[in-house]
Amino acid sequence: MSRIAYVNGRYLPHDQAHVHVEDRGYQFSDGVYEVSAVCGGRVIDEEPHLDRLERSLGELRMNLPLPRTALRLVTREVLRRNRVRDGIVYLQVTRGAAARDHPFPEAAEGAVVLTARPVRWPERAADDDGAAVVSMPDGRWGRCDVKSVSLLPNVLAKQAAREKDAYEAWFVDPEGRVTEGSSTNAWIVDDAGRAVTRDLQSNILGGITRRRVIRLAREAGIEVEERPFTLDEAQAAPEAFLTSTTSFVRAIVRIDGRPVGDDKPGPVTLRLRDLYLSYCRGGLSNR
Ligand code: PDD
Repeated sequence: MSRIAYVNGRYLPHDQAHVHVEDRGYQFSDGVYEVSAVCGGRVIDEEPHLDRLERSLGELRMNLPLPRTALRLVTREVLRRNRVRDGIVYLQVTRGAAARDHPFPEAAEGAVVLTARPVRWPERAADDDGAAVVSMPDGRWGRCDVKSVSLLPNVLAKQAAREKDAYEAWFVDPEGRVTEGSSTNAWIVDDAGRAVTRDLQSNILGGITRRRVIRLAREAGIEVEERPFTLDEAQAAPEAFLTSTTSFVRAIVRIDGRPVGDDKPGPVTLRLRDLYLSYCRGGLSNR
């Protein structure tokens, strides 16, 4: 079965799904995106993803290219045509095609692409062998809160991590504090069992999974502190983990080659992973 993409109003097989050579996303990274998880046919936290999309577009002084109802319908149709019940849906909006010139073009129409593909999500919280991360200086721009398609530092960091047999790269600011991962938010658990993740400023992306895990944790009586933590603090912490749409909640067992806690996923991480998996599987109400 050929994969089907939605491109500017049309559903096309991938080998015919093209965008213009002068699309500003291609030439200037002038666009934003969202990745949402689909579990049992449901798009997880669809409204918060659309809220973030609208916010990112607003920062680029663009509007939603289609009303939300239409975006939801197109999402359903892309999932249906690709027979995705468990997987991801990718949505990208750029400022569209125009003769190459830096200022906003007067008459470009936003370009919209949606794709979907199946992914096998973890079945059980315990199926987590724990990931390794490596740290590197955060050399990104100052507006990491915008989910821009401009991901070159993230791509280079992830590649560097993989070349060191690590799953993720953690960016560290000039004060030695972890900002976030190249495509995930960063967390530790402190000695008192509190989950700690950096507060939302313009230097990190406000993860939708982060937001959901904060809520689930608090409802389950696990305290959450939103504050920066240093790399040293992370290396001395009993547990560390990361969150994202595609990684869910995943334990970190090594930072720069040094074990975290006792080198295996810890109890708070596994509990949060379990809560999040249940939430995605519909075991908890989708609020
Ligand atoms: N990445 N931080 C960065 C830099 C990210 O790119 C992402 C998501 C996150 C986590 O956000 P969320 O929980 O909303 O997925 C944090 C997506 C999955 C990607 O680029 O593929």
